[in-house]
Amino acid sequence: MLRLQPILLLLLSGSTLVRSHEESGEWSCESDSEARVPAQYRPGLVTLDGHADDWKDVNGFEFSLLPALDPDAENAYSGGKMTVKALHDGQDMYFLLQVKGDYVYSKGIGNKCPSVALMFQVGDSATYHNMGGCKESPDTCTSKSCRGYEVDIMHFSIGNAVPGRLYGGNTLDNIEGNGGDRYGHLVDVYSWNPHCRNLDGISPSGNDSSAQNDWKGAWWHDSFTTHSGFVEADNPYGTSGQKGTYYFEFSRPLRTMDRLQQDVQFSIGQSSKFSAAFWYPVDGNPWHGSAHYTVGCDWVPLDISSGSSALSKSASGDSWDAASAFALLLSVVSLCLSAIVGYRSFKAKSIAFSPIDHL
Ligand SMILES: *[C@@H]1O[C@H](CO)[C@@H](O)[C@H](O)[C@H]1NC(C)=O
Repeated sequence: MLRLQPILLLLLSGSTLVRSHEESGEWSCESDSEARVPAQYRPGLVTLDGHADDWKDVNGFEFSLLPALDPDAENAYSGGKMTVKALHDGQDMYFLLQVKGDYVYSKGIGNKCPSVALMFQVGDSATYHNMGGCKESPDTCTSKSCRGYEVDIMHFSIGNAVPGRLYGGNTLDNIEGNGGDRYGHLVDVYSWNPHCRNLDGISPSGNDSSAQNDWKGAWWHDSFTTHSGFVEADNPYGTSGQKGTYYFEFSRPLRTMDRLQQDVQFSIGQSSKFSAAFWYPVDGNPWHGSAHYTVGCDWVPLDISSGSSALSKSASGDSWDAASAFALLLSVVSLCLSAIVGYRSFKAKSIAFSPIDHL
């Protein structure tokens, strides 16, 4: 039965055609129904530093990067595919996005640097297309009129972020109760559609200071020759045009204190729906917001599992039998010991016991 499963999966899979409509006319695109990212329980494996060496034994998925607004394979990102990996340690989720790209960096100019985003379904009705897909306009979208269409977004724009350093949620922005990041622009955002998009806690109909930026992250490019810690004055950190791979590493607690339906909540043993986006200044031209690549034209499942296959393998078979036999031996020995000790103290008591009532 187990052996039949791969064949069954092959038969069931295959591409499904996803069709949708946009103001500009018909929008259609092939989504890869095999695409999914596992997030196993692997505690103590990765450090959030932008380096990817610690992820080498973690399986991910390799995605083609197609233009988000016109997903035509001919216009795919020419630098290569994006690999997305994920895991959790029971407390936090971790993500690694890696994508080949010649080194390009312009300090302080976000759209002349690469940039990445993650997007998650929050509301049951929220579609991948149109970032939630609520039909309301910026004048009318509210948490009430777009209820059910919420998506959660993390966007990291690296123009002010020193490679290898940590950005995202910080004390000052969290005191103000929003998803901003004044230091590195690794922001926590929610949206109902592309025109109704705000930092967590900020809303056209009033702000709510209970929000937080719950994300942290770092970036790196493997053309860098130092591992000893950059400071801002070292920018541009590497040589322009150097071949290599960009790494973007993120973490977020599985659950947050969100009360506004602006954060996705992850559950062990369940799947979440997500997507990843990539901006790159192709031929040195600054990118603009909607001109980005994405890993697919529909949600991609993110499977958060309670175990790790690598861990359960080593805890099975003969080693278990040996361990339990040894445990049985130990318990027999301790039973005998306690019988001896009990008998001795009984004997001792009958001789040496003296009442202490008078004290
Ligand atoms: C909400 O917060 C933003 C950013 O801090 C601010 O610009 C805006 O004026 C605030 N809106 C209200 C209604 O207080």
